[in-house]
Amino acid sequence: MGHNSIEVRKIAGALGAEVTGVDLSQPLDDDTYAAVRGAFVEHGVIFFRDQVLTPETHKRLSRCFGPFGETPFVKTMPGHPEIIAVIKEASDVKTHNFGGGWHSDFSFLERPPLGSLLYARDVPPYGGDTLWASMYLAYEELSDGLKQSLEGLKAVHSGRRSYGTQGLFASGGGVKAMTVVPSEAGDAEILHPVVRTHPESGRKALYINGVYTIRFEGWTEAESKPLLDYLQAHATRPEFTCRFRWSKGALAMWDNRCTQHNAINDYDGQRREMHRTTIEGERPV
Ligand code: SIN
Repeated sequence: MGHNSIEVRKIAGALGAEVTGVDLSQPLDDDTYAAVRGAFVEHGVIFFRDQVLTPETHKRLSRCFGPFGETPFVKTMPGHPEIIAVIKEASDVKTHNFGGGWHSDFSFLERPPLGSLLYARDVPPYGGDTLWASMYLAYEELSDGLKQSLEGLKAVHSGRRSYGTQGLFASGGGVKAMTVVPSEAGDAEILHPVVRTHPESGRKALYINGVYTIRFEGWTEAESKPLLDYLQAHATRPEFTCRFRWSKGALAMWDNRCTQHNAINDYDGQRREMHRTTIEGERPV
């Protein structure tokens, strides 16, 4: 399908756009690739509906945008080590869902994934929407004084609350339908700048999140908490977000460098299955 048939329509003021006129099961020609990549960088998260993808075509699509990112701690799909099946069974009630809580994917890695592609295979009749928030707006709407204070500051990120030896999955609180293997590696810490510059757009984005950011460099956790809580509440103000209602065959592709997302856990008693790949990223600067 050629570039001319593509349409991109924003779904919210802050970020997010729905793209029509592309069949993602076919290899993307150069023009289509450029249009999709452009929409991805401009809107932070883009959505496609009614796509028919196999694990193979999902991976081919993902690979167009860069090499696969790592898939630490989570058992991947049999035969497809690049795909995480994000599943919550109808019997998985009163558990923490995978991706619940505002985060940027695997920000505890030295090189967190630049983007993620999530494909809906089975969706509940209601609920299970996903929210995204723009970290460009979150940064831009801070006062000049706070922007200056954050300039040059680094924060410690770690997977420990989820994947560490004392984390959610180690204590049995995580979703049962997925196999997550917590370990000491989950307790590791990595430093990233609190304000990062997006390598493709050149814009500055706030780079902290509610799940993996633990404290500021050189500050205690107690000292860090009030400011981290403030920044996180600010960053997820409703006017900085968009919300996507999934349908079977929909695919979302988001930019982890300038967004956070949160999978809403409001469909106990119903099944939801999504397939996720990530695209390798660079060390944030
Ligand atoms: C994720 O955080 O990758 C999962 C998002 C979702 O299931 O909507």
